[in-house]
Amino acid sequence: MTGLLEPRAIGQGLARRDGARKVRGTAAYAYEAPVEHPAYAQIVQATVARGRVTGADTSRAEALDGVLAVLTAGNAERLASAGDRELAVLQSGEVAFRGQPVGLVVAETPETARQAAGLVRVSYDERPHDAELRADREDLYKPERVNPGYETDFVRGDVAAAMASAPVTLDRTYTTAMYHNNPLEPHATTALWDPAADVPLTLWDSTQGVHSARSVVAGVFGLAEERVRVVCPFVGGGFGSKGLPHANVVLAAMAARALPGRPVKLALTRQQMFSLAGYRTPTIQRMRLAADRDGHLAAIAIDVIEQTSRIKEFAEQTGLPARMMYASPSRRSTHRLAALDVPVPSWMRAPGECPGMFGPEVALDELAGQLGIDPVELRIRNEPEADPETGRPWSSRHLAECLREGARRFGWHGRDPRPAARRDGDWLAGTGVAASVYPARRFPQSTATIRFSGGRYVAEIGAADLGTGAWTILPQITADALGVPVEDVDVRIGDTRYPFASVAGGSTGTSTWGSALVVAAREFRDKFGGSPPDGGEASGEAGQAEQDDAHVSYAFGAQFAEARVRADTGEIRVPRLLGVFAAGRIINPRTARSQFIGGMTMGLSMALHETSVMDPRAGQVVNHDLAGYHITANADVTSVEAHWLDEEDPYVNAMGSKGIGEIGIVGTAAAIVNAIHHATGVRVRDLPVTLDKLLAALP
Ligand code: MOS
Repeated sequence: MTGLLEPRAIGQGLARRDGARKVRGTAAYAYEAPVEHPAYAQIVQATVARGRVTGADTSRAEALDGVLAVLTAGNAERLASAGDRELAVLQSGEVAFRGQPVGLVVAETPETARQAAGLVRVSYDERPHDAELRADREDLYKPERVNPGYETDFVRGDVAAAMASAPVTLDRTYTTAMYHNNPLEPHATTALWDPAADVPLTLWDSTQGVHSARSVVAGVFGLAEERVRVVCPFVGGGFGSKGLPHANVVLAAMAARALPGRPVKLALTRQQMFSLAGYRTPTIQRMRLAADRDGHLAAIAIDVIEQTSRIKEFAEQTGLPARMMYASPSRRSTHRLAALDVPVPSWMRAPGECPGMFGPEVALDELAGQLGIDPVELRIRNEPEADPETGRPWSSRHLAECLREGARRFGWHGRDPRPAARRDGDWLAGTGVAASVYPARRFPQSTATIRFSGGRYVAEIGAADLGTGAWTILPQITADALGVPVEDVDVRIGDTRYPFASVAGGSTGTSTWGSALVVAAREFRDKFGGSPPDGGEASGEAGQAEQDDAHVSYAFGAQFAEARVRADTGEIRVPRLLGVFAAGRIINPRTARSQFIGGMTMGLSMALHETSVMDPRAGQVVNHDLAGYHITANADVTSVEAHWLDEEDPYVNAMGSKGIGEIGIVGTAAAIVNAIHHATGVRVRDLPVTLDKLLAALP
């Protein structure tokens, strides 16, 4: 158990420290790094989904005025490590998915680079490809682990026996779509190779972790990590897609190394982001539930089928929430993958929990209907005393309180449970609920240094602010840990020159970096008391902070949605979303609210709008731009409210905080699907819910 910090600055809704710079346009993002006389790179992409490059005619591109270099597998440098085949760009002629980089053009202007890229003629020995995920594939395989290292299968008790003997059972299949991260700022790098410098390679890269990016790039090029610097003060969104470098970062560095002393800028185009920046795999989820007539679960099972690429495995941990969410004497959760000729899937906001709370939370709604039990009540009846997965106690779990508080705020009571029973003119109206969950984790590796300089406390840590608020909340934590006013604290982040920080992923940033800052502050106070000398300095590591292993820690939440469906056209509107979360102590209500409602809005987008349409004949996402890939926009969002409980958790960390970047998206899509069913009586089990899936069955 940790001693919780006395909150003074913590809990205040301070405005973003980086806000003014962003509004004025003076915050330099990766592509805008302050370099002299840059060159510009453009990627040439494979136009077949599988095969080998047999030749590349670069003569027309090279002849173009302003072209500085054209790299292909024939002349690109040999990388020191080609073990990660997503990153082993231009190392062989192998093509494993449509859109894979097969060349790179560097030119004086971005326009010339783009024109020249179109002049490179690549010939292929094309082979038949296979890009179709189906549940009846015979080549589905069991991955050794699922992201980031969980057991692939988890079985307790006897699900089949429970299904055979329980009075009420359900056996349904749900699917989630392929989704692409589309942060406002595309993946972008400015790279400089200066062979004479002590640190020859500098990358201004849009990344969720400067140190992890440095480590990957150093490994790929066979450079000592000290010879690479990664700088990233601002990120225009990442959602996991910038959690580790993709091929574009290696290509930018490669281009810089081909032009020593000349900075090179490389940004993915919006279309390229649909093949080179990762994506959320589509999932097929077979759900089974068994219950007694009072709604107590006797079995919960989820068997997931999803895809990965042939060159690099990513196994989304979709079955995880079913392992721990509800009490049940028997449970089963498995994952099987199809390795296809498709781009490499990766992290997208709440990998695992986000798709993995869709099937279970819609299935519970269906079960509630079968039982005639209110869906809020059904969830509360299945609250487990301890974590069903490990048997260990929760550090805190307030799901039932979130459900009750949400029901009260939303006006759930008195809801007519019958579907398609409420009509308002041309509109059918209904409400739905689902639960949400996300693990509260932290990494042991992160170091912070605090220095007293010119009357100010300056903390340095190589953390990343994806737009989430790290620039603002890390000073709040530091100030309370030092016992000084937050106005006297500066925090510097986003540079490998600062002490090592873990990646901003898995909603671990605040917990991990905050823990390092708290330890550094303790060292600082032990050393200097209340009157530090100018230049006085102390460091601390997150790993030195007390870590509680006796408890299991998750954030929980309840999502409520209202849906309206036009009876004649099937048009769907979601006038209200309301979430109540229990996520420990909220460090900054202003930036936290933005995370919750951002996640919920992304969940609305997942439910109704987003879908990457893979044409298996072409092996390509055919709607690969923001004209065809619709992301929920202002007109789609009416009211999104996020609330939270004052949850005290003394076990998670000294701040008492749980991660909040991802939980907002979890459960939202299920709540909306459940509301649409309540409105219409139509149960859609395949995301996204588009009007064609409703129209024929509307009352
Ligand atoms: Mo998040 S998908 O863990 O960056």
